[in-house]
Amino acid sequence: MPSDRPLEVAIEGLRRLEYRGYDSAGVALVTPGGGLATAKKAGKLANLVEELDLHPLPAATAAIGHTRWATHGGPTDVNAHPHVAGRLAVIHNGIVENFAALKAGLVAQGVEFASETDTEVAAQLISRAYDETKDLTTAMAQVARTLHGTFTLLAVHADAPDVVVGARHDSPLVVGIGDGENFLGSDVSAFIAHTRSALELGQDQVVTITPTSVEVTDFDGAPAQARAYTVDWDAAAAEKGGFRSFMDKEIHDQPHAVADTLLGRTDAQGRLVLDEVRIDESVLRSVDKIVVIACGTAAYAGQVAKYAIEHWCRVPVEVELAHEFRYRDPVVNERTLVVAVSQSGETMDTLMAVRHAREQGAKVLAIVNTHGSTIPREADAVLYTHAGPEIAVASTKAFLAQITAAYLLGLYLAQLRGNMFADEVTAILDELRAMPDKIQQVLDRAGRVREIARWMADTQSVLFLGRHVGFPVAMEGALKLKELAYIHAEGFAAGELKHGPIALIEPGQPVFVIVPSPRGRDSLHSKVVSNIQEIRARGARTLVIAEDGDEAVRPFADEVFYVPKSPTLLAPLLAVVPLQVFACELATAKGLDVDQPRNLAKSVTVE
Ligand code: G6P
Repeated sequence: MPSDRPLEVAIEGLRRLEYRGYDSAGVALVTPGGGLATAKKAGKLANLVEELDLHPLPAATAAIGHTRWATHGGPTDVNAHPHVAGRLAVIHNGIVENFAALKAGLVAQGVEFASETDTEVAAQLISRAYDETKDLTTAMAQVARTLHGTFTLLAVHADAPDVVVGARHDSPLVVGIGDGENFLGSDVSAFIAHTRSALELGQDQVVTITPTSVEVTDFDGAPAQARAYTVDWDAAAAEKGGFRSFMDKEIHDQPHAVADTLLGRTDAQGRLVLDEVRIDESVLRSVDKIVVIACGTAAYAGQVAKYAIEHWCRVPVEVELAHEFRYRDPVVNERTLVVAVSQSGETMDTLMAVRHAREQGAKVLAIVNTHGSTIPREADAVLYTHAGPEIAVASTKAFLAQITAAYLLGLYLAQLRGNMFADEVTAILDELRAMPDKIQQVLDRAGRVREIARWMADTQSVLFLGRHVGFPVAMEGALKLKELAYIHAEGFAAGELKHGPIALIEPGQPVFVIVPSPRGRDSLHSKVVSNIQEIRARGARTLVIAEDGDEAVRPFADEVFYVPKSPTLLAPLLAVVPLQVFACELATAKGLDVDQPRNLAKSVTVE
């Protein structure tokens, strides 16, 4: 029966997925009488909803919807998805790399295109294949075989009013199994309000759903398997829960994110365990190099991991941005363990680096937050972070969970390779288990950071200095400020200050300094305190993050934000929190949308 529900479910799903990309949005509906209706608008989803209020669409039997992060063609109404060809509508994630050649072929046959997108080419091809085969599933598979690049495609056709067909190649697509209705989404948050029962599609599969059936085939039309699973978080976890933004909520979720990531990590003998291991332990024992690959915030988590894993395991650890790793002919082999860190498990740069590493014979271990995503499926071992759904585009709680998981990995390897005695591992685990309470204390004391952030809403530039594990924290603090507040911000290694960045210091320049514990490695603390004096002497406004009881910083600090005492290697879990709060509060004071900063997308599924 036609109703408003397909459209409502699609819009609700888009709302939950809007964080993935949001420069335009659109929907297409099919109605039993053989009708096809679409609406699409540039800008955020709210623009589309307004359009639908002004010009309501008819009741329908099926709907598809899309929010776009522009790759080919600017973010305009015309380039927004769905794209219509004949009586068919298509939405698409990813990039069709051979679209120009395919388009030229169609233009030569007299086909006219309304948009500049690669998607419209796919729509034209599927429409033509449908006209020949009269079967949407066959048409989709036939076209999918000819496309290069990455894609998730969904199509509806006016002739098949209760059918939606999807195809995936290197882009995410999951199926939700409902009662008398079924769903497709880029991730489960699209349909979590309706069902927790999901199917994980493999690569190069076509899925056909009707209200009562789900069929999966490969691109040749042969029946294929999809793995069923139950989503273990609910819709409430993806709601704001009383906070003014998801970002604010996720910052406050961090004690839980860390505690949950630590849960259930030991076996009956008290040894650490990973979630999925398809690598022989003897291989992990003989690894002679670890390479961490990741992008954005996850790469800074990797940098923190380097300090801990090298210290505990005595194995060299390199950290590399996934997109750089992939294209520079890296030296990796059977004795290299590649650790891929990704909140979404779908970042295309990281996925491509994983594939490249495996082709060179390396084993890949994934630290990932999202079950059912692609990277863990292609990895040889997986350690899931249990941060829960992270909705705000800029990462916060996933960062802390990634660092926590990396510590667990370091301890696991140290134990396996005999670098540490069991009681040493236990002592560090105990310290780790104390961290969620300490993170909570940092949050409880964050009032002053908020106040300062609000005063600084007009600031043009902020610098961040850190040393040792404080260095990646400084970089992450700067990244948060760029992402959320659009303020020029740079993170530097404090020791590098005198080699260049000190030239930037002029009267009034705000500089955050992350000070290591005075109880830690000899002289590191005093060197950073000297750095504070050096920049203060040149007029900088010093905002210092230091450990409780560190009085040495006071004479040189305009502000001190104290965090609880912790072992040096674990301190990033605390030191970064005031910086996250600062960026979030300052951006909010500027009136910006902290959950969906301009130009960014949560999960970048294109290279
Ligand atoms: C995007 C997001 C960042 C994130 C990065 C890596 O750029 O905007 O917040 O850190 O991707 O994402 P991943 O899902 O692989 O951790």
